[in-house]
Amino acid sequence: MTMIATEKTEAERVANRTTATPSDAGTAVGAPADPREKAAASVPAPLPGASPAAARDESAQRAIPGLAPSAPEPGETARTQPAPNPAFYTKDLSVYYGEKQAIKQVSMAFPDRQVVALIGPSGCGKSTFLRSLNRMNDLIPGASIDGEIWIGGQNICDPRTDVVRLRQRIGMVWQRPNPFHKSIYENVAFGPRYHGVKNKAALDQLVEECLRKTALWDEVKDRLHQSGLALSGGQQQRLCIARSIAVKPDILLMDEPASALDPVSTAKIEELIAELKRDYTIVIVTHNMHQAARVSDKTAFFFLGDLVEYDETNKIFTNPSRKSTDDYISGRFG
Ligand SMILES: Nc1ncnc2c1ncn2[C@@H]1O[C@H](COP(=O)(O)OP(=O)(O)OP(=O)(O)O)[C@@H](O)[C@H]1O
Ligand SMILES: [Mg+2]
Repeated sequence: MTMIATEKTEAERVANRTTATPSDAGTAVGAPADPREKAAASVPAPLPGASPAAARDESAQRAIPGLAPSAPEPGETARTQPAPNPAFYTKDLSVYYGEKQAIKQVSMAFPDRQVVALIGPSGCGKSTFLRSLNRMNDLIPGASIDGEIWIGGQNICDPRTDVVRLRQRIGMVWQRPNPFHKSIYENVAFGPRYHGVKNKAALDQLVEECLRKTALWDEVKDRLHQSGLALSGGQQQRLCIARSIAVKPDILLMDEPASALDPVSTAKIEELIAELKRDYTIVIVTHNMHQAARVSDKTAFFFLGDLVEYDETNKIFTNPSRKSTDDYISGRFG
């Protein structure tokens, strides 16, 4: 059993928080200066230091919303539709900016190859929580995390975690499309090449595969060597998603990926999310309630750093358990 945050003294908690380390700064020769480029270019490899025993701690897991026990207790009726295995889960995850606590001991599980939407009013901590899931918050001066994030048997909040490898496994798509100042081809090939794919035919194939997966191939196949910045906003966002999946992540984090896009581009991104969830576990932040209802399997409502309610999307939008969730989705505040 792992220690939970509430059992620690304040001094222990502060001492144990995970903050930026020199390894986060990307000291490798040729490493991109922009942290987002680094995240996109991380190395594929299994995470070291796995602790399967801890990950299988069922008594801990049962307390976590969205995380089903692997088998019913004796005498307990098996669920007719057991929840899918979690791709990962957080346990008592807190995030701080200096002394200000932006996320308050959030425990939740993300089912494998499903889409989870994070909703809540501005400033409630959605982006903070999302960024903490691949330790991008480490790059913010003064930010620190406390608690646990379990992925594949490893608590990635452990300061010894190789964050470069972690960010390969967990890709990030930002609110504003941010293609590199490179060609369309190079935007996608950058990560794989950075990590050793040198063969041109292999790179060509990978670039085409990623651009096809993001429904961009037909639109750009004749101008692969033009700047990615010359694309429309919606195309740029799909290019950024292609870049993210080129390093073969398991999980994609998306922070309002369509909020800067027109309705047609937004619809394309939503269709893409529906396609991508066949291969990836996706966590998406959105202010668009219709979008959350359309694209997600589960929805989590955050308020003032707390996870207020987390349930099937249909339940959240038709019959939420908490009044504040109902008030928020009905537009009564936020
Ligand atoms: N870099 C930072 N330094 C200090 N405080 C921050 C930083 N980023 C966010 N915060 C604070 O943390 C809290 C949560 O912010 P966050 O950006 O996670 O909210 P959000 O739910 O994503 O909001 P929005 O919907 O407006 O994007 C806010 O009070 C915010 O002011
Ligand atoms: Mg945000």
